[in-house]
Amino acid sequence: MTDQGFTVEEIDTSRPHPARMYDYFLGGRDNYEVDREAADRVLDIAPEVPASARANRDFLSRAVRFLVEGGIRQIIDIGTGIPTSPNTHEIAHAVSPDVRVAYIDNDPIVATHAGARLLGTGNTGFFLGDMRDPRSILEHPTIGELIDFKEPVALMLVSVLHFVTEEEDPAGMIAAYRDSLPAGSPLVLSHATGDFHVDHVDEVLEIYKKATASLTPRSHAEVLRLFDGFELVDPGLVQVPLWRPDGPEPEPEELRGISVYGGVGRKN
Ligand SMILES: C[S@@+](CC[C@H](N)C(=O)[O-])C[C@H]1O[C@@H](n2cnc3c(N)ncnc32)[C@H](O)[C@@H]1O
Repeated sequence: MTDQGFTVEEIDTSRPHPARMYDYFLGGRDNYEVDREAADRVLDIAPEVPASARANRDFLSRAVRFLVEGGIRQIIDIGTGIPTSPNTHEIAHAVSPDVRVAYIDNDPIVATHAGARLLGTGNTGFFLGDMRDPRSILEHPTIGELIDFKEPVALMLVSVLHFVTEEEDPAGMIAAYRDSLPAGSPLVLSHATGDFHVDHVDEVLEIYKKATASLTPRSHAEVLRLFDGFELVDPGLVQVPLWRPDGPEPEPEELRGISVYGGVGRKN
């Protein structure tokens, strides 16, 4: 039994899980043979994927720091992923220890690691939930304990919306969250794209079709539409290394292969 109340038997090792494949791409050890096999097949086709995963994590860090330095004190981080240091609350607490973070993921493997690596500071919480059901997330008791909807709340949907198909209506889903947030609340969003790798996207999608969630990469225009009702802050929606880099602007060769767009918007 884990500290989140899930038994190890509930961890499904019969099919690849995107959370565990992502962990493997990031060099983590919280993955199984079935995940590594699928991830290795992706790497054969698209060896640049780990660089995209790392660039996405760096974007997450810079975005959280930017928001907390700007005064944000509460965060809902949906699609948390297997904890990878520095996690959202660690980045936020390095700036201001009073930031409250609610973590949500739908994969039990994340729950098995949440206790030791996401909780314990008193102002973080984790629960298993499906972002495609906004009511069940927004009305969860953990959200009630941590989040005050009268103050701006940062909603993080980082590298997770590509697991929502068009039929599942990602724009409608985001609108349901947006309508619960006060004006000025930020949205941090990153998303896989096929804009830079049209040649091998279909082969990668085939591998994800056998995983627990399929992948829907989106174009720049399609991701931009997901910011409906939010005003993008500079530099807008860009390949993630270009979003407010800590150092000099990345060189073109550093961007080659980075198949993730990211941006931060504020609710109007
Ligand atoms: C690629 S990881 C991203 C982790 C982290 N946000 C990051 O950017 O480093 C995607 C995560 O989203 C989770 N996820 C996928 N579909 C989800 C859903 N419908 N509801 C909640 N979480 C979901 C997966 O389990 C996985 O942990």
